[in-house]
Amino acid sequence: MKVLMVCLGNICRSPMAEGILRSKINGLDIEVDSAGTSAYHVGENPDSRAVLAARKHHVNIAPLVGRQFQAEDFDAFDVIYAMDNSNQNNILALARTPQDRAKVKLIVNEVFPNSDGEVPDPYFGGSSGFEEVYNLLDKATDKIIENFVHGR
Ligand code: 4NP
Repeated sequence: MKVLMVCLGNICRSPMAEGILRSKINGLDIEVDSAGTSAYHVGENPDSRAVLAARKHHVNIAPLVGRQFQAEDFDAFDVIYAMDNSNQNNILALARTPQDRAKVKLIVNEVFPNSDGEVPDPYFGGSSGFEEVYNLLDKATDKIIENFVHGR
C-alpha cells in the first residue's frame, strides 16, 4: 500500500504523519511519502518545532524535503490522506477521475470515523500545538497499520 500524507506547507503536519507512519511499518508492505498543496516551502526541511516534537518520540523527520502535491500523485499512491478540509478540497480540485477522488481521505476519520475532523494547523501557534498534532497522528497511524494488517 502506498500512502501519501498531505497538508498545506509540507513542513509541519504531513512530514510528521509520514515519519510517524514510517516508524511503524516494521516490514509491512507500506510505503509513505508526503506533500503540500502549496508551493510555499518546496525544497525546505520540516519546521524545527515539528522536528523537535517528533524527535521527543524518537522519530527523525529532519531530512525530509518539502514538495508540492501534483495530479500525478493520484497515479503513484493508493491512499491520499488530507490533514484538513481545505487540504482535501485542494487535492480534490486536481482529481481527474472518480477513481482519483476515491483515494482522498481525511486522516482524522481513521481515529474518529465520519467525524470529518481536522488535524489543527500548528504553524502559527506554539510548541504545544505540535505535541497535540503528534498525538493525533500517532493514533491515526496506529489505525492505518491496524486496518492494513486486518486487510481492511
Ligand atoms: P503545514 O503547516 O501545512 O502543516 O505544513 C503550515 C506551514 C506553512 C504555512 C501554513 C501552514 N504557511 O502559511 O507558510
